[in-house]
Amino acid sequence: MWEYTDKVRDHFFNPRNVGEIEDPDGVGEVGSLACGDALRLTFKLDENGRIADAKFKTFGCASAIATSSVLTEMIRGMTLEEAAKVTNKDIADYLGGLPEQKMHCSVMGREALEAAIDNFKGGGAKKHELEGNIVCTCFGVTDSEIERVIRENDLTTVEQVTNYCKAGGGCGGCQGEIEKIIEKVRGDKIKEQPAPTPGRAGKLTNIQKIQLIQQTINEQIRPALRADGGNIELIDIEGNKVIVAFRGMCAQCQLAEFTMRDVVEAKLREFVSPDLVVEEQNEPDAQA
Ligand code: FES
Repeated sequence: MWEYTDKVRDHFFNPRNVGEIEDPDGVGEVGSLACGDALRLTFKLDENGRIADAKFKTFGCASAIATSSVLTEMIRGMTLEEAAKVTNKDIADYLGGLPEQKMHCSVMGREALEAAIDNFKGGGAKKHELEGNIVCTCFGVTDSEIERVIRENDLTTVEQVTNYCKAGGGCGGCQGEIEKIIEKVRGDKIKEQPAPTPGRAGKLTNIQKIQLIQQTINEQIRPALRADGGNIELIDIEGNKVIVAFRGMCAQCQLAEFTMRDVVEAKLREFVSPDLVVEEQNEPDAQA
């Protein structure tokens, strides 16, 4: 049983603006009955170029009906430029949230709106074209769409991507590709973020120091190791001693000692404190 907000229930039991506008200015159709959800959105503009009326027809679950209904309310009175900025997160937020497994309904609403705007801009003749290359053939989802839901919703796992756009939820053959897109977006975000300020440990509490060490590992060290098929895990912190374990390719690498000193320790000293010493966790049989 899904946990729905009162607003979702209200829009499901009393959907607004159901139907189709006669002689619409824009028509957007997305999804397919074979995939379990389909939405047809129509709108009419007023003389000032604002959306005067919007209606929908939806085939799908309670969330699909509620998101379609609330979308028609949200966009009334908007210009097309304003409507084009509506994200799936805006739609879900307007409903007070959706179960994560149902977030793909909010994405379907945003896609239908974009398709309807494209249809208007194309003089009614242009079919909404998917941007990018198809990654998930089971559900016809492109790399651009996957990247977009990851960025707009801060997703970090393949399972989340499946919840938001269905990609990966069929045969599973595209999951490796989705993983790569997640890594790419994560890499981009790290580049966009200001780097941690070097040498702040003196002003940090213990908790802040631990967080900064973890942040430095996540943002400065792990991406470099992952590029070579390796990984690193923070095991413990004892005073200025940071204990880590290498995983993946790094665990068997002949250059592990070099990586430890010249990458891990150097970055932690640069971004956290020059007093830090990094040690690799002993293997259980080495400890015995
Ligand atoms: S190709 Fe994506 S789930 Fe099958």
